[in-house]
Amino acid sequence: SRSTVGAVMIDKGNYRHYMAKEIHEQPEVIGHTLSRYLDLGAKKAKLPDGAAIDFSKLTRLVISACGTAFYAGLIGKYWFERYARLPVEIDIASEFRYRELPVSEGELALFISQSGETADTLASLRYCRQHGLTIGAVVNVPESTIAREADVVFPTIAGPEIGVASTKAFTCQLAVLASLAILAGRQRGHLSDAQEAELVGALAEAPGRAVQALKLEAQIERLAPSLARAKDLLYLGRSTNYPLALEGALKLKELSYIHAEGYAAGELKHGPIALIEENIPVIVIAPHDSIYEKTVSNMQEVAARGGRILLVTDDKGGEASGLGHKDRIVLPEMPEILSPIVYAIPIQLIAYHTAVFMGTDVDQPRNLAKSVTVE
Ligand code: G6P
Repeated sequence: SRSTVGAVMIDKGNYRHYMAKEIHEQPEVIGHTLSRYLDLGAKKAKLPDGAAIDFSKLTRLVISACGTAFYAGLIGKYWFERYARLPVEIDIASEFRYRELPVSEGELALFISQSGETADTLASLRYCRQHGLTIGAVVNVPESTIAREADVVFPTIAGPEIGVASTKAFTCQLAVLASLAILAGRQRGHLSDAQEAELVGALAEAPGRAVQALKLEAQIERLAPSLARAKDLLYLGRSTNYPLALEGALKLKELSYIHAEGYAAGELKHGPIALIEENIPVIVIAPHDSIYEKTVSNMQEVAARGGRILLVTDDKGGEASGLGHKDRIVLPEMPEILSPIVYAIPIQLIAYHTAVFMGTDVDQPRNLAKSVTVE
């Protein structure tokens, strides 16, 4: 089967689904996207051609988006605050458009959208336009309405995305946001040349790391039958891996129709711990980073109550976890800024293979649309 985007015919190549093809395209499209935002010779972040923006005087960044694009924005919030000390306000577009957020000149509004046509995101953009803000848009479709109405376009170079559940657009959005956060950090005087060079060097490793993450596919496929037996699943993460936990739960419910929730690991004891029993698998996203110990102690609370854990981590984190090998998905160690981009891949593969095992229509899940152009 084929799909037409504009005048271009897209086929699945050797893949069973568009989604599988799009997951596997990630090393390449993340690379294409980064090449617009990183100057590897100079080891500096740069603006893509045609984009002019100065982060140095901004008082705040306001972000709005829907679905998976919103989770990319949430991860971006951590990065802009951490690397550029730029305060970020973020909300889902369906709330943002009606909440009458006080905004003022000197702020940049950023809208993130694969299609560039999502009705609520567009309405949020128009609210900010009316209130005199500069409008930036991270979009994958350059001729879309959101791209046309923005002052500054930050393109993702993901290529056409056909699968309803966003995959490669998400990791490309992250690549853009990470690059912009580094650029903002330099412009605002919070990153030295050496720190910038280190972060840029780290980000440039994303395509290679994505290739390594894809090698986990066979192992993840073997886990699918046991995940498919669950009626409910929890995803836990901290910091930038918290939005990734939300994204993991969204992907799984969209594709497999298994109920899943993502939680900040530290919130476990404020509610979801009451659910823990052996029939509710808990997927913990925890690279061995600065807050690994905290997440692992949350994980141990799950284990102590008989919960079944699947830990997505790296070599060091796997060894320190005290869990057996069959309960881990192990990635190579990598710099912290890279982990949400690379860990997105096993998270996507978990949802994909669980759904394929269950026989659902992964490219066209029931009741969902690729682009939601009505409210
Ligand atoms: C729909 C799609 C999601 C997407 C969301 C936002 O719900 O199924 O995959 O994340 O819309 O779409 P956008 O085109 O604005 O990124």
